[in-house]
Amino acid sequence: MAIINSSVTEAKKVLDNGDLIGLPTETVYGLAGNALDPKAVANIFEVKARPSFDPLIVHSSSLERLSPYIKDLPATAKKLAEAFWPGSMTMVLPRSEKIHDLITSGLDTVAVRVPKHDLTLSLLEQLDYPVAAPSANPFGYISPTSAQHVQDGLGDKIPFILDGGACEVGVESTIIGFPEGVPTIYRKGGIAVEDIEAVIGKVNVNAQSSSQPKAPGMLHRHYAPNSTLLLGNIGGLIEKYKGKDVVTLSLKDTYNTLPLDKQCILSKSGDLSEAARNLFKTLRAIDKLNPEYILGEWMPEEGLGRAMNDRIKRAASLG
Ligand code: TXA
Ligand code: MG
Repeated sequence: MAIINSSVTEAKKVLDNGDLIGLPTETVYGLAGNALDPKAVANIFEVKARPSFDPLIVHSSSLERLSPYIKDLPATAKKLAEAFWPGSMTMVLPRSEKIHDLITSGLDTVAVRVPKHDLTLSLLEQLDYPVAAPSANPFGYISPTSAQHVQDGLGDKIPFILDGGACEVGVESTIIGFPEGVPTIYRKGGIAVEDIEAVIGKVNVNAQSSSQPKAPGMLHRHYAPNSTLLLGNIGGLIEKYKGKDVVTLSLKDTYNTLPLDKQCILSKSGDLSEAARNLFKTLRAIDKLNPEYILGEWMPEEGLGRAMNDRIKRAASLG
């Protein structure tokens, strides 16, 4: 099992030694290693059982510290960095030669981000290198939003997890790139499309699954619990699956046709930020109950509801 504590000094020691750590961010926990050390980067793929065609995000404490790894910073990207960093936005930009092919899966772009988490920012500031960090879950499973989640999934494969508490946002960062100069969202995430558009105007949303996904967070089956997740009108689904072992996953409603201990809600007040913060944690808790079916519903298609719907769709293997 990994050691879990909140010592930045210990985290730095493990990273400096070429080993991997569980790293808190405001979105989800990352599995972090020295981005300039090909051995550490290769180890990330191995520990996660992640296919090598799925590139990694490079994290540091400021745009300035990321700039040696970026070849070209479009004016729009600079504007976004100023508006949202540190924060839940990842930018895909032309990469410099300093970035190893392993990180980018051979692409000529690199994904970069400055996370918004005090403990992690202080660690990143002290390091002589940026860190590569995918979400710290075994490939395809639900992303971790606490140190314990990382321990549950990868604890026997890494020496240390930096404990930064529960993640405040709870869904991964929004990924945006600039193909032919057009701002394009590859993955909906912790910063709402509306908020990005308020800064740079209309953007393309191209978060679609394909056999060669731009961001394999988009693979058909991803964020997947073990139980089958069914989506629709929960009241109706409860009727339809009467007699079966079910647990519900709703935004805020409960139903008097099912015992309360079989019902999970994401936010009593229907607040989408609170719901996003609770989504992965709740899916994991339901998975522990191991029902035959999870009866869920779509979130309103606004704010963080959009990123949640994307995760819910993939958790239900609907691509
Ligand atoms: O919130 C987050 O972004 C978290 C925390 C730890 O920062 N990280 C995260 O990493 O979600 P990961 O590896 O689970 O997802 C990163 C996504 C992948 O789907 C990958 O395909 C995409 O970023 N990506 C990385 N580099 C890319 C590139 N050059 N072009 C397009 N997509 C890229
Ligand atoms: Mg991931």
